[in-house]
Amino acid sequence: MLGGAETDSGRPPRHLAVIMDGNGRWAKNRLMPREIGHRRGAENLRTLCVLCRERNIRYLTVYAFSTENWKRPATEVGALMALFPRFFKKYMDELEEEGIRLRFAGDRSELPKDVVKTMEEAEESSKSRQMLDLIIAFNYGSRREITAAARSLAKKVSDGILHIEDITEDAFTGCLYLPDIPDPDLIIRTGGEMRLSNFLLWQAAYAEFYSTDCLWPDFGAAELDAALDDFRKRQRRFGEICQ
Ligand code: IPE
Ligand code: IPE
Ligand code: MG
Repeated sequence: MLGGAETDSGRPPRHLAVIMDGNGRWAKNRLMPREIGHRRGAENLRTLCVLCRERNIRYLTVYAFSTENWKRPATEVGALMALFPRFFKKYMDELEEEGIRLRFAGDRSELPKDVVKTMEEAEESSKSRQMLDLIIAFNYGSRREITAAARSLAKKVSDGILHIEDITEDAFTGCLYLPDIPDPDLIIRTGGEMRLSNFLLWQAAYAEFYSTDCLWPDFGAAELDAALDDFRKRQRRFGEICQ
């Protein structure tokens, strides 16, 4: 939302996005296979959900698998594909108790059928919950999302149901995966890298970025609060001048 420079300062982010990076290094440091790091990472997502609920964060988007992660060895990709259905089955009741709605952003066409089925079940069974929207970016890539939006607008123009002049920023946003979710206020990346890796490129236009060396499985309350404290001190200007 533009023009929120004054009102936002000092508040927790309404929408937090997290690039959950460093599972592989976490495992390597312990001489364990990378898959164990991913498993610990998934367990830590449960912790983050509880922490976000306690801190009144309304939307949480997490980057779980990118459109580029298919380049990894098949065994690792297989382990990553199996993680979500396991997470969902294990924490189904707890997610309900916490009032957490599950949503997904990404290209489902390439995902295993059983994984897509579990995603749809999770979305359907949780859609009336209102405490926290947990958005899992799974087989997500911003360039793919933006390309799909461009394609769908182009189709409407070629079908004669949209004028070129009607292709506005809002119309474009309306064609993204989850148009009703507000833009992220804060993006945290664990694992120390200073890049977005194809995550929320359109939505991040005015997000605050925070990187920590902490590896994702080790990211807990103290690390989250350090990021939130840092965020509170930022002055978000959205192009305006602030006194
Ligand atoms: C993030 O951890 C999880 C995914 C990308 C799926 P990594 O697996 O990238 O961990 P590092 O960066 O190799 O340590
Ligand atoms: C970003 O991490 C993707 C996820 C956390 C799912 P990567 O480990 O894939 O990113 P790069 O390759 O270091 O840019
Ligand atoms: Mg990584």
